[in-house]
Amino acid sequence: MTLRIVNIAGCRPNFIKIAPLLSEMKRHAQIEPILVHTGQHYDRAMSDLFFRDLEIPEPDVSLDVGSGTYAHQTGQVMQRLEPVLREIQPDLVLVVGDVNSTLAAALSAVTLGYPVAHVEAGLRSFDREMPEEINRVLTDAISDFLFITEPSAETNLLREGKRQEQIFFAGNVMMDSLRNNAAKIAHSAIVSGLGLTPRNYALLTLHRPSNVDDPGSFAGIAGALEEIQHRIPIVFPVHPRTAARLEQFPAARQSLAGLLAIEPLGYVDFIKLMQQAAFVLTDSGGVQEETTALQIPCLTLRDNTERPVTISAGTNCLVGTAPQRIVARVAQILDGAAVAGHTPEKWDGRAAGRIVSMLAERADQIKDLYRGVRERSACLNTFSLVSHSRP
Ligand code: UD1
Ligand code: UDP
Repeated sequence: MTLRIVNIAGCRPNFIKIAPLLSEMKRHAQIEPILVHTGQHYDRAMSDLFFRDLEIPEPDVSLDVGSGTYAHQTGQVMQRLEPVLREIQPDLVLVVGDVNSTLAAALSAVTLGYPVAHVEAGLRSFDREMPEEINRVLTDAISDFLFITEPSAETNLLREGKRQEQIFFAGNVMMDSLRNNAAKIAHSAIVSGLGLTPRNYALLTLHRPSNVDDPGSFAGIAGALEEIQHRIPIVFPVHPRTAARLEQFPAARQSLAGLLAIEPLGYVDFIKLMQQAAFVLTDSGGVQEETTALQIPCLTLRDNTERPVTISAGTNCLVGTAPQRIVARVAQILDGAAVAGHTPEKWDGRAAGRIVSMLAERADQIKDLYRGVRERSACLNTFSLVSHSRP
């Protein structure tokens, strides 16, 4: 019996999570994986480079939704995905992470009667000002199978009324990508190519709307970075959102003029830069996890994190966005006060295997879920097509 799974990816962090899942699915005779790219990210440096580096097969379907407001983007994914799902008739839709494409795809699926699996479920920042937090809470509320990366997620999901038997502590698929690409990462020449030497530079990423969309907040952070780069060079692969804001905000632009600003990097080169950095400054979710796995000190420029295990077990430190605090914490690290960490439980590079095996074992149960909803939805669809075609 074949389990047909539609896998959804739309953004840079999604590609890193979906790659090991797809390759595991391909190894299972009973699983038929189908890849849908929503097109939320579309630049070569935000999408194609990841397909190349992570050896992800060409998407079976591209929705090409592009950029827009929250409502526009989620609406477009839903509208364009609905006919695709009706045609493919999957047994399961698998979504990853917390981006707009994640929630929109989950919502399209459940309303048509297709069960949903959410990989990286249960993370909570408890900050409803982040669009990602809204996406996390709502995606989990409508998902049937919840694959979690750390123990905090189980507590959060149970508190929100999910049932224990829906929750699976699978580990972190981001670590599978690290492990699967270790040889390529070892061969990357990006560090010397940028004229840098190992442990003599800091790596920076910045793209959260709360940090870069407000000129005052961005200028404050940029001022701190300007001070830090007098002590150590800072490499800055610039996210397209941030590049657009730098065009608009002259104060931040001026403060960052001394940084080594570059285009966003592909996965392999980016991880190599991270691996050899003295420390990392970031507001990214994935980067907090990767620095923990690679034991590189990470200063997170946010007031909260949905990934508390990176602090309790890993090398992450929440420094917030107050300029003096950022400068002071960097000074401590440069003076040798780095945090030692250990690898969180089940971040062993085998999470995708655990997830896919669990799905394969429950193939019968998955196929039976919501059968009635699907049958009614198919009837309604036929009916509405017929009624619309009347003169
Ligand atoms: C999105 C996710 C965020 C994730 C990030 C990963 C949501 C709500 N946000 O944020 O959680 O951390 O991706 O990088 O889903 N743009 C381009 N080229 C591209 C993509 C975007 O130029 O290929 C520009 C557009 O001007 C766009 C802006 O970047 O308006 C923001 O893109 P969007 O996908 O809306 O949000 P991100 O900030 O990328
Ligand atoms: N990344 C990359 N090149 C870059 C910046 C980031 O390959 O120039 C990778 C990195 O591995 C990171 C992942 O993209 O973990 C996720 O990216 P991002 O920070 O955009 O998203 P988030 O994890 O915050 O949702």
